[in-house]
Amino acid sequence: MTTPPRSAPAALDTATHPRKSPAATRALTGEDAVLRAAYRLCRRTTRQHDPAMYALVQLMPAGLRPACWALWAAATALDDLADEPDVAPAERAARVEAWTVSLVHDLAAGTSSDPVRHALVDAAGRWRLDLTSLQGAMASARDDAHDRRFADWAAWRAWCNKEVVPWVEQVRHLFEQAGAPMTLRLDRQTDYERFVDGAQLTDVLTDLSTDLAQGLLLLPQEALEPFPGAEEDLLQGRWSPAVAALITELAALARRRVTRPAMTTGMHPGAAIVLETAAGLLRAQLDAVEAAGPTLLQRTPRPSVVARARLLVPARLRSTLAWSLTPLTAPTVPGPRRPKGPTPSVSLAAENTGLRPPPSHPSGARPPMIPAGRMPAHVAVIMDGNGRWAEQHGLQRSDGHRAGTAAVREIVYGALEIGLRHLTLYAFSTENWKRDAEEITAILATLQSELDEAPFRDLDVRQRWSGRPDRLPEDLVDSLRREEARTRARTGLTLTVCINYGGRDEITQAAAALARAAREGEVDPDHLNEDDFARHLPHPDMPEADLLWRTGNEQRTSNFLPWHAAYAELYFSPGYWPDMDRRDLWQAITEYSRRQRRHGAVPGRLTSPDTHHSPPHTQPDPRHRAR
Ligand code: IPE
Ligand code: IPE
Ligand code: MG
Repeated sequence: MTTPPRSAPAALDTATHPRKSPAATRALTGEDAVLRAAYRLCRRTTRQHDPAMYALVQLMPAGLRPACWALWAAATALDDLADEPDVAPAERAARVEAWTVSLVHDLAAGTSSDPVRHALVDAAGRWRLDLTSLQGAMASARDDAHDRRFADWAAWRAWCNKEVVPWVEQVRHLFEQAGAPMTLRLDRQTDYERFVDGAQLTDVLTDLSTDLAQGLLLLPQEALEPFPGAEEDLLQGRWSPAVAALITELAALARRRVTRPAMTTGMHPGAAIVLETAAGLLRAQLDAVEAAGPTLLQRTPRPSVVARARLLVPARLRSTLAWSLTPLTAPTVPGPRRPKGPTPSVSLAAENTGLRPPPSHPSGARPPMIPAGRMPAHVAVIMDGNGRWAEQHGLQRSDGHRAGTAAVREIVYGALEIGLRHLTLYAFSTENWKRDAEEITAILATLQSELDEAPFRDLDVRQRWSGRPDRLPEDLVDSLRREEARTRARTGLTLTVCINYGGRDEITQAAAALARAAREGEVDPDHLNEDDFARHLPHPDMPEADLLWRTGNEQRTSNFLPWHAAYAELYFSPGYWPDMDRRDLWQAITEYSRRQRRHGAVPGRLTSPDTHHSPPHTQPDPRHRAR
């Protein structure tokens, strides 16, 4: 029913380089044969293991398919290693670990002797895929080689979030890189989570016979308990009334989750068709599960050819049209795999440096995909409302400041996850000395204890401090300087904490430095420009703030970053700072990504800007990524 795709590199080539560039031709001649064979193997694996997934990939533009096959085959390879029958659990765990470690080395080398990893490494290089998020999935697959039991749905969901969602996220990233963002609106996040849940449950029901053959029952106790005897019957391969009732219940639950997901609103139409068809195929799969009866325990049920064709034929026509309307971005020609500049977040290879990805949000929430051209380079935050939060809870103001540190950690984790380059936090202003000595002491002690605890020690965070040393405790200044020195070489997120900071003070310092330079004859006052001024600021390399976010329901900037935030988009949110978590940062960034920035120009009639400001949101700004 589906047209056999062309071999992978050829498909990549013709789909994304309609007019072949010499560089592209060169890239496809070297190890072409090996690479083609590697992608072919991945395609075969996808088709054999999961025909529905294969059909979905066929709805994507030809240029994206090889990377999807590579991702799918890699996930399958790991799954197979973790579940290999007749192999001791410890040995299975060791094999998963070895595969993961090899991938880290292969990514660094840009090639692999293993065909699946070879294709994956190539796909990651072409599409600048950051495979960091797979680290957790791989570690989880390794740990699962020992045992997969879930007490309740929450534990089951956590497993699904850890092991499955990161792979789905890679595909979303792929779409984004290709210029067809599968951006999820934050208000659709719950629909997405429900959908992923339903898809995973459908998969578990579909693979019941294969899993049971390996003694695996990937359902939570909470789901089994209302059907006494069902668990034992299943493990013995017996079809009983209890088993039948359980399957009916679970299939109905999965169906509710994958029916009418409203998450495609605002997506590229091609991406939306892929997701809607996925939902249709899952429902067809559930029909097959329900129709299978006792054979569900003997073989994998598949929807009929007619049922699939009814969904796929119109989807193919619609998707071909949708993709033809939007030209895709060409992938990067394979070459050295290590990006030259700083990467948006730690790469998988960062494992070697001792850095790790941030802990996930307890709900399993993942960041929205923001198209690169709409991502702010620098978010500055006025963390306000600690005092009122404390009052609201009948606590001391000092308790509010302590509670605020959890929000700081959350926001930093969220910034790393979404790939933000610069985050600047306003922690203590030059005006805050007007407060009671007791409160000031509490604020400074809280900052000191966070520095001592160093929660970002193992994360790819370059920590900096902006502000005046005078009046601050010596220990605090020492700790701030020490952290700055210790994390200087890090390339992930630059986190600047403003302590004893005042915007006018910063400008006054720059003016004084400039006056000194003029006195020394280093600058000519008659020919000064904005860049000359910026060079004399205490942190000359701090980029302008694209987004200034203030919590706590106040609408003022309180002497924060007057130079850098001169053209910032302002975002005021009502909640108090201690109630914030990473999802609030993502919400602020999502809101920013929808704004139209003009910088004084008329939208749609842009000329190349000649200042250091970023251009409006009508074009991606390559400088944002270069910073
Ligand atoms: C912000 O919270 C933290 C600092 C200024 C140090 P506040 O302490 O200003 O809290 P509110 O505005 O009084 O609620
Ligand atoms: C701004 O908040 C300073 C910090 C968040 C550190 P404030 O609460 O001190 O500002 P105002 O008094 O509302 O302007
Ligand atoms: Mg305040």
